[in-house]
Amino acid sequence: MASINWISTRPAERASADVTGLFVQEYGHKPAGVWSAPGRVNLIGEHVDYAGGISVPFALSQRTCVAMKQNNMGAYRIVSRIGEPEEFQRFTIPVSDVGPGRPQNWAGYALGAVWAGIEEGAIDPALGGLDIAVESDVPVGAGLSSSAALECSTALAAAELVGAEKADRTALMRACIRAENEVVGASTGGLDQQISLFGRAGHALAIDFSQATARHIPFDIARRDLSILIVNTRAPHSLADGQYAARRRVIDGVTSSLGVESLRFAEDAVARSAEWAAAHGPSPDEPIVDSERNWWRGVVARRVRHVVTEIDRTERAIAQLEAGDLREFGASMLASHASLRDDYEVTIPELDVAVEEAMAGGAWGARMTGGGFGGSVIALLPRDRVEQAADSIYEAFGKRDFNAPEFAVAVPCDGARRER
Ligand code: GLA
Repeated sequence: MASINWISTRPAERASADVTGLFVQEYGHKPAGVWSAPGRVNLIGEHVDYAGGISVPFALSQRTCVAMKQNNMGAYRIVSRIGEPEEFQRFTIPVSDVGPGRPQNWAGYALGAVWAGIEEGAIDPALGGLDIAVESDVPVGAGLSSSAALECSTALAAAELVGAEKADRTALMRACIRAENEVVGASTGGLDQQISLFGRAGHALAIDFSQATARHIPFDIARRDLSILIVNTRAPHSLADGQYAARRRVIDGVTSSLGVESLRFAEDAVARSAEWAAAHGPSPDEPIVDSERNWWRGVVARRVRHVVTEIDRTERAIAQLEAGDLREFGASMLASHASLRDDYEVTIPELDVAVEEAMAGGAWGARMTGGGFGGSVIALLPRDRVEQAADSIYEAFGKRDFNAPEFAVAVPCDGARRER
């Protein structure tokens, strides 16, 4: 059998040295400093952040490192090393060319966060042009928030480079969300940026999006000889395509038609969503045709049911975690996956197969994590079952001609920080 691939993760010191080397090689001078921010997994509470729900993510040891220094060119120069064999991507973009809708490439996450950070008052507008080098161990397109890791590391670097020794992380979080929504044009909810900036080693973060509150919860599963295995399905994946936005449109539409801030506070939200469905079809600009009305009512009711049950499930899951009922917590993870598969319809066969195989391999629970339509699964497993479970998932993917998956053991780590 071919050997399975484990996602490689450099120790912080190594990654900082590598990105410094890249910076020097590219620009011919030393950076003023190096900052990093992590990717994340979400333990539970999926597709509810934009609905005033609750999520429980933790920050990963896989991080994006950014080396930065001011230049006096009035432009951002940014370089990133990607993939193997070594390949570089670089852009030079005038500072005044960054704003809503631009640039339309990966640099938009980084430079958009700087632009929005200035708008939010968290980054000094006198900053001017910047030289930036990026290295990342967060796999791209894996549903592990490589985009938030890029936004948050760049924004924190720009904030701390001039003036702010202790950046206003709440304002930076708002900025990074705006980079995603306004510059890149992905209508994502904010979960990823919050955990990337506020993660804490050994803890998950219970975030209540309707109250704008968050609480660190100890997540020391190693003490119970358990691990979280990440399975990156490596299936093609993009949140900027229409599916994520379509889910959000339905939930936003129903929520405002019910006159509530969150579906969580609506009585009979599922039944009452029918009214909205009768008036608004799948493409909001076209009136709904009669032959589709019943089908569409059913779809909207299922979307709303996911959000309502997932928020409820997440509330109980937090209590299970705090009580150390990890068997029960595993069952909640599995129920969450079923709801995302059957009601919210954001899973794909790769995600479902990975969950089934993990459960067959002795997992206490497993579910997709992140936006779905590709990306990763997480499985809560006894530590001594991890390798075997990875082997059997790898084999099951091979039999179905799926892309070969890759794996990592997820360790709860600190959020964004200065490295050197
Ligand atoms: C993506 C988005 C988040 C969140 C999740 C689903 O990761 O960026 O805001 O909506 O999907 O929970």
